[in-house]
Amino acid sequence: MRQILWVLMLVMMTLALLNIEQYHCCLEEERTGLLEIKAWINHPDGSSLPDWVENTDTDCCKWNGVQCDSTTNRVTKLNLFNEREDRRIGDLYLNASLFLPFKELKSLGLGSSGLVGCSENQGFEVLASELKKLEKLDLSGNTFNDSILSSLQGLSSLKILNLRSTKLTTISTGKVVNHTSNGIL
Ligand SMILES: *[C@@H]1O[C@H](CO)[C@@H](O)[C@H](O)[C@H]1NC(C)=O
Ligand SMILES: *[C@@H]1O[C@H](CO)[C@@H](O)[C@H](O)[C@H]1NC(C)=O
Ligand SMILES: *[C@@H]1O[C@H](CO)[C@@H](O)[C@H](O)[C@H]1NC(C)=O
Repeated sequence: MRQILWVLMLVMMTLALLNIEQYHCCLEEERTGLLEIKAWINHPDGSSLPDWVENTDTDCCKWNGVQCDSTTNRVTKLNLFNEREDRRIGDLYLNASLFLPFKELKSLGLGSSGLVGCSENQGFEVLASELKKLEKLDLSGNTFNDSILSSLQGLSSLKILNLRSTKLTTISTGKVVNHTSNGIL
């Protein structure tokens, strides 16, 4: 009888530990979201972000370019700088919906990712209503033109917008932006 109790206790402790382990992983919807972003960045045949894998044993908060809040375990920073293999695999169009699961996102790095514009109705304005904590957006080193600017206007929480080395000629976001200086303002 006593032995059975011990076994039961061991099982319960193991289960409790597993629960704690799960708590330390990123949210399932964010993990799924990251894998969709990986597919987008690699479309059609890239091989970037090799450590972003389906295997649920890995904590996506520890994946390259991903940072999470240490208490909520939600993704706060996403840096995909130069992940599109120097654009060898072609132009990239923004699909803003891909970033909507990351409600706590503060910093998004899309520098040098071959971005040339936005998919239809998938511009940055889509982010404005959902990502209310986004403070930093890095779009440097992409070749999009002025057509992208109107879509940036709604991002009211933005504090830093890096547009260095883009082909923008006019700035009309209402933000203090000077893309001829070092771009980080
Ligand atoms: C954008 O991403 C969403 C979410 O993954 C997807 O459902 C949609 O088809 C994508 N749209 C485009 C234009 O790629
Ligand atoms: C700006 O980029 C968009 C999307 O790539 C394109 O359709 C448009 O013709 C470009 N406009 C100019 C002035 O180059
Ligand atoms: C932008 O920065 C450059 C270099 O620092 C400076 O010469 C220029 O006057 C600035 N333009 C505006 C509009 O502030």
